[in-house]
Parts: sequence; C-alpha cells; structure tokens
Amino acid sequence: MTQSKSLSHGRKFLAIPGPTTVPDEVLQAMHRPAIEIYSGEIVDTTQAIYNGARRVFRTGADSRIYLYASNGHGAWEAALSNTLSRGDKVLVLESGKFATGWGDMGALMGVVPEVLPGRPRGGVDVAAVEARLRADSAHEIKAILAVQIDTASGVWNDIEAIGKAVRAAGHPALYMVDAVASLGCVPFEMDEWGVDLTVTGSQKGLMTPPGLSLVAAGPRARAAHGPNDLRTQYWDWEYREGPVFYQQFCGTPPEQLLFAMERALQMLLEEEGLESAWRRHAILAEATRRAVAVWEDGGAGALNFNILDPLERSDTVTTLRCAEGFDAETLRRFTTEQCGLTLGSAIGELSDKGIRIAHMGHVNAVTQLGVLATTEMGLRALGWPHGEGGAQAAIAYLGDMAA
Ligand SMILES: Cc1ncc(COP(=O)(O)O)c(C=O)c1O
Repeated sequence: MTQSKSLSHGRKFLAIPGPTTVPDEVLQAMHRPAIEIYSGEIVDTTQAIYNGARRVFRTGADSRIYLYASNGHGAWEAALSNTLSRGDKVLVLESGKFATGWGDMGALMGVVPEVLPGRPRGGVDVAAVEARLRADSAHEIKAILAVQIDTASGVWNDIEAIGKAVRAAGHPALYMVDAVASLGCVPFEMDEWGVDLTVTGSQKGLMTPPGLSLVAAGPRARAAHGPNDLRTQYWDWEYREGPVFYQQFCGTPPEQLLFAMERALQMLLEEEGLESAWRRHAILAEATRRAVAVWEDGGAGALNFNILDPLERSDTVTTLRCAEGFDAETLRRFTTEQCGLTLGSAIGELSDKGIRIAHMGHVNAVTQLGVLATTEMGLRALGWPHGEGGAQAAIAYLGDMAA
C-alpha cells in the first residue's frame, strides 16, 4: 500500500461562515423521539425559545417573535410578505451579496427595490442613506433593507448609525435588518437602535443546525401587517397568532430543531452570557486579522483583506481576496484534503477569487488557532507568497488578551 501524505485523518473542522459547528450538547438535545405537537412540553420549549430569542435580539414585550421551519431566505420572505404590498418601494442598502439578494426576492414578490450602492470594498454609506431618505419627501419608500454583517464581503455595517440616519431624515419607512450572520456574536440592540424588524437563522451564531429561522417584529412592523397585500398563509403572522398552538408553525413544529435551539440559547445566555460571547467573537476575530495582516506582507502576499477599512471588518467572518494568478480553490483543496480543514469559498463578485475564514458560533482559541495555523501551513506548502508568522501573531495577541 502506498503511504498517503495526508494529515487530514482525525477530527475534521469546518470554518465556513454557516452552517457552523453544532456543540455536542446541542446535538445530544436533538437526539430524542418526537413528542405530542399540540400541548405539553412542546409548548414550553417553544416559549423558552421566544423568551431566549427576545434577549438575544434585545427587544421588549411590544415585539413579537415568529419561528419558521425555514432557512434565512424564508425569514426574508416572511419579513416582506407580512409588512408590504405589491408595488411598494424598498430601499436596499447594498454592501455585498445579501441585502441585494433580499431585495431581489422582493422584486419577484412584487415590491420595487431601489439599490443604494455601498462604498467599494466597504459598507453602507450612512450619509447617503440619510440624503436619499430626505429626498423622498413623498415617502414612497416603505422599507429599508440592511444587513448587519454581509457574509459575502465580510463587511460589518453600523446598524445603530443607519437607524440614527433614518430618524434624522424623519422618514417613516420600516427599518428591517438581516442579522443572520451576526446575531449572538456581535452587539445588536433592536429596540435601542430603532430597528423595526430583524431576521436571523439558526445555523450561525445560534449554534443550531440549519432549518429554523426567526423574525422579531417590533410594533411598527406589526402595525404594517393587516392591510398589506403580500400575505400568504405559511408566513402569515395573524394565522400564526391563532388559538391553536400548532398554528404557530403553520403545521407540525420542527421538534428536534426546537430542542436544539432551546439548548443552544441556554448555552449562549446562561452558561456563557451574551456579552461574553460578543467579547469572545471580537477577540478571535482580531486574532484572525492579526494573522492576515502578517500574511498580507504589505501587499506582497497572495491573500489580502477584502474590506479596506479595518473598522468595517466583521467579527464573524474575514473575507480574503487572492492576488492575480492564485486560485482560491487550490488553497481550499489543500487544507481540506491534506489537513481536514474546510475554509469558506468566496461568493458573489469574489466567487473563485477568494476565501472566507469564519470565526462564528461555537469557536474558541483552540479552533481558531488551528484554522489560522493550518491556513498558513497551506500557504507555505503551496509556495504562495506570504509574510511568515501570522499564526504566531495570533498566538501573541490571544496570549495577551487572556493574561
Ligand atoms: C447575511 C446573510 N443573510 C441571509 C443568508 C441566507 O440564509 P440561508 O442560507 O439560511 O437561507 C445568509 C446565508 O449565508 C447570510 O449570510
């Protein structure tokens, strides 16, 4: 038998920006038979998720949380169909692939998206948002769609500042935020920042398998529901608020996913604490950026940050672009096949031209140092130009932070 050079046997690691690693405790919580779906424990489990999610969204009793057996795209559709009507204009704050994807979905449903371009290799231009809203004196824009962390570009938009701009413009549009790749990982204050509606999915910071999504609807979003004509039964809030528990899911509850999310929220809120989780993400992200800054080697390296302004680089995913002549898939294949580490592929306009390193959810110093050291090992093995000592810079930073 020929000997394999692969070092990949052993536990594999997935460093893609969702789905993320599901903790063993959460997997174990799912491992049980189905239960009765109209009453009893399933009602308590669902209520525990509503209560926990409210604390993660940071929203009060005036908001209502809806749970869907869907991915994030489903939550997008739920948000639009419950609040808007055919022909309504929505302002899409572009900063990568995801806000525009949400707007494109709206177009197919019958709303009219207007895309406000973000800054090149950067985030939403907050001043431009305010100017556009001021110019809309007839208040034709009915909703504003923004993404907190765009998982494609790796940008971190300032949701608080955008909320202030909306208020400064005195515009009544609903402010809707996609926190799919950020909730539970970075600060988010739905009520304090004036967000009317937030969507998220289970499979990233919430450490639960894909297949559940949540929509938090504040009072203004709930008030928009009713007369609007995009409603369909599966997503419909009024139907879900009906008298029978089963209606809350418009059918059979996804029970094992609910057991999982209940356990994951307990881990996040009770065992770690939400603010500690934010801090953990901030530190692991900064360790990643320290490593990348060394690899960049003043522009001579094969990998470079996609987002130009360091303050806009997100704490859940770092998107890197490959210099001309370097094929991202070669590096990804190397780390997967030779090391057991799957890095994220770049998507959207960077497709095939970059990689994404996730630091989101159930990650810690061990996993992130493994990801960084293995990526650097790949650069060396493939002979890609890079500054040496990126992993060492991450170690130094983490060591200082933990001292
Ligand atoms: C910011 C953001 N929004 C929305 C989505 C879509 O979520 P899903 O793939 O669960 O439909 C994603 C998925 O990666 C995302 O990162």
